[in-house]
Amino acid sequence: MSDLTYIECCEKYRQQIIDRFEPAKKIEDFFSEDEIGELRLYQFQKSKKVKFRETSSNIQPNVNINQMFKDLEWLRPKFVDLFKTEFSKKHSGNFYITTQPHDHHVDLPSEDEEGFENLIPFKSVIIPLFLTHNCWATTTFFKQRRVGYSITFDRDHLTSQKDSLYKIAREYDGLIDQSGNPCDAEKDYGQWSNERYPHISQNNFRGFEEEIILDYQLKSVMVFDACQVHASVLEPYEKPEIHNWLKNGINIQFYLEHENNQKAIPSFNI
Ligand SMILES: [Fe+2]
Repeated sequence: MSDLTYIECCEKYRQQIIDRFEPAKKIEDFFSEDEIGELRLYQFQKSKKVKFRETSSNIQPNVNINQMFKDLEWLRPKFVDLFKTEFSKKHSGNFYITTQPHDHHVDLPSEDEEGFENLIPFKSVIIPLFLTHNCWATTTFFKQRRVGYSITFDRDHLTSQKDSLYKIAREYDGLIDQSGNPCDAEKDYGQWSNERYPHISQNNFRGFEEEIILDYQLKSVMVFDACQVHASVLEPYEKPEIHNWLKNGINIQFYLEHENNQKAIPSFNI
């Protein structure tokens, strides 16, 4: 069978992707202290480069996530057990060390990234590795999903394309809910406030509705659909001192090979 590009798979197997959508959740004590220690050290021992931008407060040790799964043999079985299915050995993702709340985005391959042939997006995880003492960091997972490339949402043109590795959406096309129904990108769900989302303009926020807010807790893992839009939120905003954090973590995307999908999920319905 000839290779399908990642985006061809997204189009052809769109319903398979949607059928696996689930609400975002946090699993506490997913990792042991030793496992978190090993992951934390890995980024410093194995990074070949460090990425950063002058315009941001985000340092990213450049680590090969696929190699990390080979090196840390205990890592894959934990996620096979969690997802109840095998998944591709190809991942996207990165380590980050940041003091900066992130605006709303979807982490997926970018248009010029290769190596995701015959794959469809499945799940994303955030693994917290460090958070400043006495601080509190939270992430909103929105009801909106988008099947396709990595993307960040900026109809106000606050960011230029050269400042972002992600494609920037000036018009919010393709937003769907957990059932795959189109979402109204112009609808104001009334959940924006400058206290909670100072890093996202009100106009840019329009079209998004909170599904769940999860806190950044060591040893836990946040699990969500790889196509799911998410952003940092300052919650509870009444205590600005607790948002004065530095956080370190990993985000990893998991993909499925479409040919094997029917076997992987018994409930799958073509
Ligand atoms: Fe993300």
